[in-house]
Amino acid sequence: MDAKSLKIKAAAEALTHVKDGMRLGIGTGSTAEEFVRLLAEKVASGMNVIGVPTSERTAALCRELGVTLSTLEETPQLDLTIDGADEVDPDLVLIKGGGGALLREKIVAATSSEMIVIADESKLVNTLGAFPLPIEVNRFGLAATKLAIERAAGKLGLAGPVTLRMTGDEAFVTDGGHLILDASFGRIPDTRALSNALHAIPGVVEHGLFLGLARVAILAGADGVRTLRS
Ligand code: 5RP
Repeated sequence: MDAKSLKIKAAAEALTHVKDGMRLGIGTGSTAEEFVRLLAEKVASGMNVIGVPTSERTAALCRELGVTLSTLEETPQLDLTIDGADEVDPDLVLIKGGGGALLREKIVAATSSEMIVIADESKLVNTLGAFPLPIEVNRFGLAATKLAIERAAGKLGLAGPVTLRMTGDEAFVTDGGHLILDASFGRIPDTRALSNALHAIPGVVEHGLFLGLARVAILAGADGVRTLRS
């Protein structure tokens, strides 16, 4: 089964958790986009939901397909967020931000009663870190922030290239106007310690480790869909 079909399977399973009247956080990325397409079909046949998108890209797709949107200003509490992930560990700690939307994704997930992660099963790993950790940083003091990240990681025994994410010749800029540093530290045995260390650096806006946010992961593989709970 190809990757797109697996994403659709996971998205379809997640859709069974969506009930009429829900206030939804809607994730970013290719798997979340499959969810939006299926959700839009439900909306077209009469389901009444409102969605808070986690990126301008997701907002544009929702508008195109007729999914009613809101904002966290209008709708500050959400029932359910459905989003993809770059890596998922067995405790449902995630690495997110491959699509550069981690800040809004984390804000939206944190305001939701529940977060469901959808992915193909290749995203499930024993220990996070093969996927470079995205870290959203302020433009001001970029070099100093990068150095502080490297030093903080070093104290935890983590090392590896920390590189500015580019789009062609230009730095990638997030929806919030920030930059992304991708940290290739390899295996991250203590995600809580790294999360705390990164949060202590003033230039770090947010990082892509999602701890304690996802309670359910729906993972699609060639043998079917399985649901993990934390
Ligand atoms: C965007 C994300 C995405 O959810 C993550 O990158 C997974 O994307 P995809 O479903 O395309 O593999 O965190 O910031």
